[in-house]
Amino acid sequence: MNKVKVYFFRGTLLFFIVIVMLLQFGCDVSFNDGKNLQTLSGTNVSRVLDEMLVAEGKWIFEENCKGCHGANAQGAINWKQTDADGFYPPPPLDGSGHAWHHSSMVLKDVIKYGSVRDEQGRAKGKMPAWENKLDDQQLDAVISWFQSLWPDPVYASWFDREQRALAQ
Ligand code: HEC
Repeated sequence: MNKVKVYFFRGTLLFFIVIVMLLQFGCDVSFNDGKNLQTLSGTNVSRVLDEMLVAEGKWIFEENCKGCHGANAQGAINWKQTDADGFYPPPPLDGSGHAWHHSSMVLKDVIKYGSVRDEQGRAKGKMPAWENKLDDQQLDAVISWFQSLWPDPVYASWFDREQRALAQ
């Protein structure tokens, strides 16, 4: 090979290396690095945490919810047994309870409007309503925070139900 050809060859090689590096970088920034989970029904779920939303939710939880649901959203110890008034204590929201049975719409409604009410408007439980204190974005944030505590299989099962709820 003469000198000109060698330089040309090196130049082309360098050019391709740079392109490949750019592509790699491009992929890293354009694809989220969410975990790929498989739900019970076999569909794939990407679990991505929006760290900003989760951080905001943690703060909202500490300000408003921690007193009843516990610092780590672990709920009251005897959350499955009614108290002296016949009401249920605050349940866990960390994935060990059954909050994951609810679609995000239902979760939002529970937080917004609190415990279900009877015909006279009396609350059938002790969960307060937050509709006048937290807006929709803040509700999304607090839900994101406690969902970030859920183990992968719990999250995947919730996601599965969520998809079915959305399809209805
Ligand atoms: C005064 C105590 C109290 C506070 C404060 C409170 N909760 Fe609750 N929460 C409860 C109780 C009690 C229940 C059970 C409701 C029932 O039996 O009707 C509950 C239920 C829930 C549920 C339904 C869980 C399930 O498994 O069905 C969610 C979600 C929830 N709370 C989220 C929140 C969030 C988010 C906040 C803060 C913005 C909050 N709670 C603040 C007492 C509280």
